[in-house]
Amino acid sequence: MTETMRAVTYEQFGGPEVLSVTEQLRPKVAPGEVLVKVRRASVNPVDWKIMSGGLDALMDSYFPVVPGWDVAGVVEQVGIDVPEFSVGDEVIAYARKDVVHGGTFAEYVSVPVRTLARKPRSASWEEAAALPLAGLTAYQVLRRLGVGPNTSVLIHGASGGVGQMGVQIARELGARVIGTASEGNHDLLRELGADPVTYGDGLVERVRELAPGGVDAVADFVGGVVDVTTAVLAEGGHHGSIADPDVLGAGGEWMWVRPDAADLTYLSDLVDAGRLRVNVVETFPLDAVADAFARSQEGHTAGKIVIDVAD
Ligand SMILES: NC(=O)c1ccc[n+]([C@@H]2O[C@H](COP(=O)([O-])OP(=O)(O)OC[C@H]3O[C@@H](n4cnc5c(N)ncnc54)[C@H](OP(=O)(O)O)[C@@H]3O)[C@@H](O)[C@H]2O)c1
Repeated sequence: MTETMRAVTYEQFGGPEVLSVTEQLRPKVAPGEVLVKVRRASVNPVDWKIMSGGLDALMDSYFPVVPGWDVAGVVEQVGIDVPEFSVGDEVIAYARKDVVHGGTFAEYVSVPVRTLARKPRSASWEEAAALPLAGLTAYQVLRRLGVGPNTSVLIHGASGGVGQMGVQIARELGARVIGTASEGNHDLLRELGADPVTYGDGLVERVRELAPGGVDAVADFVGGVVDVTTAVLAEGGHHGSIADPDVLGAGGEWMWVRPDAADLTYLSDLVDAGRLRVNVVETFPLDAVADAFARSQEGHTAGKIVIDVAD
């Protein structure tokens, strides 16, 4: 008997209106993969950017597409060459594959082992699902920028999904952190360990007031801020963006997060050590992914949005 599953799918590029919940075949478990029974998935802006067709030049999409790259769930089956995981293991992944097709907004997803780590034991399923993509992005960017003890870093977009991880990880790496957000999120940034500054007109002066000699690194998690970045960077400092290729013309690095099991294990351990907090602001059921995308598209969520797939 061929087994099926409920999944969110779309058959063509577009806005939230192209999404529906359909019955799909359960994915096969190829060598190098495990099949995960999904408990929670989380939303990232890349999900709706791919759906819009905006990243079609970068990655092939095969329709119907099941969107979603973040997952927390339980191993249901292991691939023929996979000794390191067993049925019943609780896992998390930034389950990006080489093509866009079988994502995490479904009851089951096949996940490459190279993307997989054990779920932080102390985290809820919601928190666990919200960790991988945003956490890995922040960690990989900060490491590449040389953020460490006795350095200072400005984080543009410090109250977002990536930004909140970035503030905490930069502190963990030993850096002083200045983070931009609207005023309503300043207390949150202080709690996480950053000196908050309001973005918009006058930002350069506000950062210079806190760091008169400039900052050693700038991590841009928003885009459209290259001029501010270059104006506050200390001599010899490094900067990079995950949201704006224009940094390339200004001596910066244009960065993309890569699935990495070792990095994800580091983050999972950090959560269990009580040193990294995952902030989930809203959870939507599987049949309300369109609403979850609309919420994410507003661009002002102070944390992560989660999809509740199953208990
Ligand atoms: N290249 C990669 O590998 C990669 C990986 C992950 C994400 N990204 C991209 O990075 C961006 C952020 O992702 P995310 O998941 O963190 O998004 P998110 O959670 O949706 O970000 C929302 C946050 O952005 C803040 N924000 C909005 N406009 C701002 C501005 N002008 N200055 C400072 N903060 C501002 C908001 O703060 P306020 O409410 O206080 O305004 C809000 O807290 C997205 O464009 C995403 O596609 C790229």
